[in-house]
Amino acid sequence: MTAVHDEVRQIEAEAAPTRFARGWHCLGLVRDYSDGEPHSIQAFGTKLVVFRGADGSLNVLDAFCRHMGGDLSDGELKGNEIACPFHDWRWGGDGRCKQIPYGRRVPPLARTRAWTTLEQDGMLFIWNDPEGKQPPQDITVPRIEGAGTEQWTDWHWYTTVVDTNCREIIDNVVDMAHFFYIHGSLPTYFKNVFEGHVATQYFDGGSRADMPEPEGSAKMTGSTSIASYYGPSFMIDDLTYHYEDGSDYKTILINCHYPIDANSFVLMYGIMVQKSEKLPGDVAMATAIALGDWVKVGFEQDVAIWKRKARIDNPLLCEEDGPVYQLRRWYQQFYVDAADVRPEMVDRFEFEIDTTRPLEAWNKQVQANIAARQAQPVS
Ligand code: FES
Ligand SMILES: [Fe+2]
Repeated sequence: MTAVHDEVRQIEAEAAPTRFARGWHCLGLVRDYSDGEPHSIQAFGTKLVVFRGADGSLNVLDAFCRHMGGDLSDGELKGNEIACPFHDWRWGGDGRCKQIPYGRRVPPLARTRAWTTLEQDGMLFIWNDPEGKQPPQDITVPRIEGAGTEQWTDWHWYTTVVDTNCREIIDNVVDMAHFFYIHGSLPTYFKNVFEGHVATQYFDGGSRADMPEPEGSAKMTGSTSIASYYGPSFMIDDLTYHYEDGSDYKTILINCHYPIDANSFVLMYGIMVQKSEKLPGDVAMATAIALGDWVKVGFEQDVAIWKRKARIDNPLLCEEDGPVYQLRRWYQQFYVDAADVRPEMVDRFEFEIDTTRPLEAWNKQVQANIAARQAQPVS
């Protein structure tokens, strides 16, 4: 006799961590911070100020002034320094108070938190480390070949706030089935590789024949994607769209976020498109906007789910699901002290899902949906 499992499965979930992931986080495009004004950012459970000094460097400091708590993001740029709106103390990009106009001398302890920054490929990054260390040499953000060149468009960028813990978006890396049910695509190949601080998803998929198409002339038949998180929050997706007329559009999609607090994050994504004979200058940019809007529809589909779903530490999986537990083990490396990173968090792990059975079921469902629609009387 086989054992009867009649206990009810319970959802387990601890509160989302209040510690924030160690790693490089993208704060958006450099061009959006280059207007000569201080910018206010809610991130990592506090407020930051981003400003470009007269010397041209972008600086990121804690926004709350260490004198009496004034908000530096309401302050004014004076030369290379940000001047607090409360009593005009001048803070440099290195976090040191450089001048107190009414004071005889600057107290030696007048130092605030200056975040390590990186400007690369048109984006601004900051390094978050709860232990206060600098980024190790081997933890870098890879360069994006083509960015800033004539062969590619500029970034077309989107920013939105999502009211949930950022682990939800990380789970997407291994979640093959939701591509069919949420995003209207038909995954034909799906594989994950985790190693060190990088987590990759290999994806090939067709479009569901029973679903609406993105706006545009040619009919999209599918896509090929190699998408890697470099650290806890910055993903580069080498994404090629395939069309019925045989053409391919090569794009780079950035998917990144930074936490506001334990239960909300800023989601950003940006796309650039490779120019070609088919996609000269302006046409390529128009394509970037059209494809970006298509990606936006996809993210909104995810957000709609995240808004209503429960946090779950013990997902119940079937054989055709991806390696959620292994992915979360990989993700955990960013939430422990560097000395506590264990081999199982960083060792190479590979898993390919057998798509035979899902495709059988999904093709059947698509055909049934089309047949049902055709059977409906035209009104
Ligand atoms: S609080 Fe900033 S100068 Fe006083
Ligand atoms: Fe998704």
